[in-house]
Amino acid sequence: MVKVGVAGALGRMGRLVAETVAAQDDLELAACVDRTSGEAAGVPVSVERDVLAAVDVVVDFTHPDAVLDNLGAYRSFDVDAVVGTSGFTEDRLAKVRDLWEGSSRTCLIVPNFSIGAVLMMRFAEMAAPHFAASEVIELHHDRKADAPSGTALATARRLDSAGTQRRQVDGVETVSGARGADIDGVPVHSVRLPGLLAHQEVILGNPGEVLTIRHDSTDRVSFMPGVLLAVRSVAEMAPGVVVGLDGLL
Ligand SMILES: NC(=O)c1ccc[n+]([C@@H]2O[C@H](COP(=O)([O-])OP(=O)(O)OC[C@H]3O[C@@H](n4cnc5c(N)ncnc54)[C@H](O)[C@@H]3O)[C@@H](O)[C@H]2O)c1
Repeated sequence: MVKVGVAGALGRMGRLVAETVAAQDDLELAACVDRTSGEAAGVPVSVERDVLAAVDVVVDFTHPDAVLDNLGAYRSFDVDAVVGTSGFTEDRLAKVRDLWEGSSRTCLIVPNFSIGAVLMMRFAEMAAPHFAASEVIELHHDRKADAPSGTALATARRLDSAGTQRRQVDGVETVSGARGADIDGVPVHSVRLPGLLAHQEVILGNPGEVLTIRHDSTDRVSFMPGVLLAVRSVAEMAPGVVVGLDGLL
């Protein structure tokens, strides 16, 4: 039985992860932590992070401002970490790699746990070398803590590595921000509206043609198979920091 801890267990994602883990025969929901105490899936939620030292793997869905400090604690507890919390820029990833240096445990950071989003990123990466340029539009609910999304950051990095050509775009921004954020040379545009959950379009252009790859998560249940796959696989993975689910699919 794998002992699983959930950090952020009273949040939208954490609560669903706690319920999903508790419903599995091979997993035990052994500890839950949040900023306030309460209860998730029948397990007490503690404000003391130390309760997570007793688990095999911690699933972290907290806040970009909290997650680096949390990862330091998980490193010292000598547990595996599956991280869904967003905000992992290259700088932040470098900090985590430093933090995790020499650990025998794995820190698996997953910008998006849904299978469709994993494939959307893969398809975009495949298309990138064949197109002159690409842009990303990510669309999320209006209570999302950060922008751009972790998925958009990861997608832009992968488009850049796969060889989307840098191009000169004519015209100036008469209003700052009109062309989006520049992530590794790829413009990323963030939309926040009530009614949305998690969506992304990658638009790739060539003279005379446009390819649009779009993914929509319409319910948070879309993330649960990926979370379970990560939780069940992380103990068998090479130690250190791993980004994305691709290697497990
Ligand atoms: N990787 C993915 O597939 C995926 C999918 C959805 C959301 N997310 C990300 O997951 C994170 C959480 O999203 P959410 O919608 O559940 O947010 P939320 O605000 O509903 O929940 C976050 C929870 O974390 C708690 N928290 C904050 N700081 C904490 C700390 N230091 N220790 C313990 N708990 C703490 C909050 O009290 C809250 O209950 C965000 O970064 C979001 O972008 C990732």
